[in-house]
Order: sequence, then C-alpha cells, then structure tokens
Amino acid sequence: MGRRRRRDEEVDPASDGAADAERRGLQSGLRSALRNQFPDRNRSNLLPVLHFLQHEHGYLPEWALQVVGWHLRVPASEIYGAATSYSELLLDPPRQLTIVVCTGLACWQAGGERLLAEAMQRADPGDVIGVSATACAFLCGLAPAVRINGAWRGRVDEGQLTAWMGNAAP
Ligand code: FES
Repeated sequence: MGRRRRRDEEVDPASDGAADAERRGLQSGLRSALRNQFPDRNRSNLLPVLHFLQHEHGYLPEWALQVVGWHLRVPASEIYGAATSYSELLLDPPRQLTIVVCTGLACWQAGGERLLAEAMQRADPGDVIGVSATACAFLCGLAPAVRINGAWRGRVDEGQLTAWMGNAAP
C-alpha cells in the first residue's frame, strides 16, 4: 500500500501535472543538481543557491525558483525578497545591451536628456537593448554619464551612444 501524503506535506513542483514536459524536465534536472550541491537543504543556503542559479542561467528563472522553495523549504515570498534585494541577481533574462543614462542635474544639463531620448528611440522591442534612467551616479565631473552593461562611462556623446547601440542591434 502506498504512503499517504500528510496534509501539511510539501508538494514536489516537478510532480505538478499542469506543468509542461520541458518545465518538468528542467525542474527535475535542477532538483538533482541542488541535491548534489546543497544536500543539507538548509534555508541558510538560500543566497548561495540563488547565486548558483544566477551563474548557471544568467538570471533566476521562475520555474527554478519554485524548485528552490521546494528544496530549501522556503516560501516564495522569502525567495523573491532575497532575489530582489541584490542587484546582481536578475529575475529576467539579461539583455544583450543594457544602457542606463544618468538623469541627475549635472548630466541632464550636459546632454543627458538628449542621450536618454536617443537611447529610448533606438531601443528595440525585441528585448535586445534595454534602456533606463537613474538618479545621480556620483560621476558629475564626468557628465553626462552612461552605464553600459554595468560599466560607467563619462562624457558620453551621441556618437558613442549610437555606436554602442548599433553594435548590439540584431
Ligand atoms: S548628475 Fe550624473 S553623475 Fe551626478
């Protein structure tokens, strides 16, 4: 006779019949990897596990976070809380090119407004290039400042910006 599941027993997400075959396969593979890499299933492993996923996938896929919750017995709210507290952990797939334009006063006056408008206009809907703005990056002496794939550049002009964006275009 099979063992009956207790009412409060956690459900393995890989056994969810609504999940598609690919998702179940991915989750099953990750379960094995987590058992090998983090066998003690302790919640103190949450950040190491998230960094492991970030390293493996380049971001934290939603299907993988489900497995993390199951493996470490941690609620989703705690997982998302940790995942959103660290800028190096990404919940979305990384873009090929990420541009952040400083819109602080010094950069705005030095041409940041034009750079942001140009970048927004050239950003594509295919998720290859992501453009956003940020407050003062404390590089005011190098205004206008732009961060490209995590590295800040100073005294950026429109020619440089369009060259970066042109190289990343599909
Ligand atoms: S205003 Fe852009 S770095 Fe300070």
